[in-house]
Amino acid sequence: MPLPDTFDIHSARLVVRSIAARDLHDLLAVNGDAEVTAFLPYATWLGLQDAMAWLQRMEALAATGTGRQLVLERKADRQVIGTLLAFKFDEGSARLELGYVVGRAHWRQGYAREALCSFVGHVFGDLGLRRVEAEVNPANVASNMLLSSIGFTHEGVLRQRWVGHSGPYDTNLYGLLRSEWAPPAMDGASPGR
Ligand SMILES: CC(C)(COP(=O)(O)OP(=O)(O)OC[C@H]1O[C@@H](n2cnc3c(N)ncnc32)[C@H](O)[C@@H]1OP(=O)(O)O)[C@@H](O)C(=O)NCCC(=O)NCCS
Repeated sequence: MPLPDTFDIHSARLVVRSIAARDLHDLLAVNGDAEVTAFLPYATWLGLQDAMAWLQRMEALAATGTGRQLVLERKADRQVIGTLLAFKFDEGSARLELGYVVGRAHWRQGYAREALCSFVGHVFGDLGLRRVEAEVNPANVASNMLLSSIGFTHEGVLRQRWVGHSGPYDTNLYGLLRSEWAPPAMDGASPGR
């Protein structure tokens, strides 16, 4: 099955849905923060022009059929508080890779876990995918811990896989199989949230 053109996945507090141009204003607050973009493969946004250039790249990715840029919309106030990228989709192997970002004002409130859990549940269930993976810089403590907390397995270290501003660096490879997926309680958020 090819990747659907659009997504609209509901969890307790979030809608994980396809991006729209109207989201860029909210996303400027997310990606205009150097602490948020420290481990991301794009520079901190300086204004709406950077946001629009990013959207164009995401639209070009979608046109290949191998990626979809989604956003995390909070149900309570309809604010877009983050993004989720599904990319490197391989139809034959029923596999894709995830990238995710949450605005700093919303960190440690369970939003990333809730979004990832609802998305992973959807692609393993409705879309029939069999593997989801993620690459994480070993220094990105939050992202490494997030994946472990959801049940991803740390499968290895790809040495000097990327070259950044300060030279080559390693990446941690994480994988989660449909056969081992056990959604946490509370639709992804920790009890009590
Ligand atoms: C990684 C990121 C998406 C996590 O978002 P979040 O909404 O704050 O994460 P959650 O609140 O859902 O956290 C879920 C679990 O992840 C772990 N975690 C999250 N942030 C953590 C941190 N700063 N330190 C240690 N563990 C952390 C914890 O186990 C946490 O569960 P707990 O709060 O019950 O202990 C967010 O820090 C972010 O956007 N970082 C910048 C962008 C980025 O690096 N993206 C990933 C690129 S690979």
